Amino acid sequence: MTPGARLLSVVEIIDSVFKNKIDNNYVIANNIKRWMRNNRYAGSKDKREIINAVYGILKRYYILDFIQKKNIFLDNYALEITIIYYIFHICKKDDLINSFDDGPYAIKLNKEIKQFIDKIDNFQISEEEYIKNSLPLWLYNKIHESFNINTKKVCQSMFDESHFDIRVKKGISRKNIINKFKNYNIKSDITPISPIGVRINKRLSVSHLKEFKEGLFEVQDEGSQLVSLMSGVKENETVIDLCAGAGGKSLAISDLLENVKIIATDININRLDKIRERALRSKVKNKIILEQNYKNLNFKADRIICDVPCSGSGAWRRRPEEKLNLTNNQFENLLEIQKEILNYGADLVKIGGEIVYITCSILDNENKDQINYFLKNNSNFEIVDLEDSWDSITMSHERFGKEAYCQLIPFIHKCDGFFLARLVRNK
Ligand SMILES: C[S@@+](CC[C@H](N)C(=O)[O-])C[C@H]1O[C@@H](n2cnc3c(N)ncnc32)[C@H](O)[C@@H]1O
Repeated sequence: MTPGARLLSVVEIIDSVFKNKIDNNYVIANNIKRWMRNNRYAGSKDKREIINAVYGILKRYYILDFIQKKNIFLDNYALEITIIYYIFHICKKDDLINSFDDGPYAIKLNKEIKQFIDKIDNFQISEEEYIKNSLPLWLYNKIHESFNINTKKVCQSMFDESHFDIRVKKGISRKNIINKFKNYNIKSDITPISPIGVRINKRLSVSHLKEFKEGLFEVQDEGSQLVSLMSGVKENETVIDLCAGAGGKSLAISDLLENVKIIATDININRLDKIRERALRSKVKNKIILEQNYKNLNFKADRIICDVPCSGSGAWRRRPEEKLNLTNNQFENLLEIQKEILNYGADLVKIGGEIVYITCSILDNENKDQINYFLKNNSNFEIVDLEDSWDSITMSHERFGKEAYCQLIPFIHKCDGFFLARLVRNK
């Protein structure tokens, strides 16, 4: 594809992301998939460049939109937003201009577009930090409350590209998988922190590979691997995974232990469907029981995993639309749901057993504040110090401060941000 055809493709995808909301939410992946289906001639380099630009734009949506509002000119929002992104992040003005009129599949340059490009090229951003970091003010404030002097680093890291990691099945050496990947011309290396992960150097489809079909690995971010490893599940335990979703944590935990029974449930039982197929492929099917009856679990277990719905702020590099879809009201609502799930978990855990509270958030409100609130109201629970657990998993010194819980942060740990706390029931 020519640069002009790629630019046109980016504008088309951005336009469809804004026009095809589902339940009032932006969904990037579906729009990219649809575009790919209709443009099969695009090579892998073209696809990568186009997808990177689409994600780059949506990660910076608030700042691009802010600039657009000050410079409305053309009657094409997606084109304006894309031009602003290219001028500020991708190329020089003249290179961008050359991408227009660049063959039959390029946008025609007209006087208005040229004037718009000139205007944007001269636009100075001297705005407040929250705008520069492409966040709504309320979210920026939440990040600031959680990170203080590190706020800028946290916000900037949200613009980075997310990594592409896999978890290698127990008993299979990571070197073996890396060598197999070499045969497919896929470059990969062991993950820096997780002892069971491999990091692939670029995002690509792996589901057609023989090794994937044979269950030798699963796609799972390093952060998600680490919280699975730190969940503290022991041999012979009965575990309830209360928010099992598509089963990422249940599958990882069942692979780590020989003898474990995991009851996987979710308020949205449709989400559980994927676990069946994944468990079969990973050969852990007999360790996971799917429970449709979320509300009526009438027994107690050794460990309750509460991988609660959250802002997803630890994974906004990967799913920037979650940042766009989140309102202040929804955030407050999520905090209530998290409290409810923790309380339900407390009803289900045996004396001596543990609740494992997990979020993929970096915001204190969803993490340590929830734990402190729970402990204040449940004196029969105590927090477990995770220092030994971390040290037994990894040689990495990138620990998470001196706290008892674990907070993974993308700009430090170079994986998705996750929070994990373990709460033991004493009486
Ligand atoms: C972070 S996702 C779980 C991810 C999953 N554990 C994994 O590792 O792939 C949160 C899940 O919580 C579920 N959920 C939402 N509200 C819930 C509630 N009130 N009680 C239980 N689960 C809920 C959602 O359906 C979603 O599947």
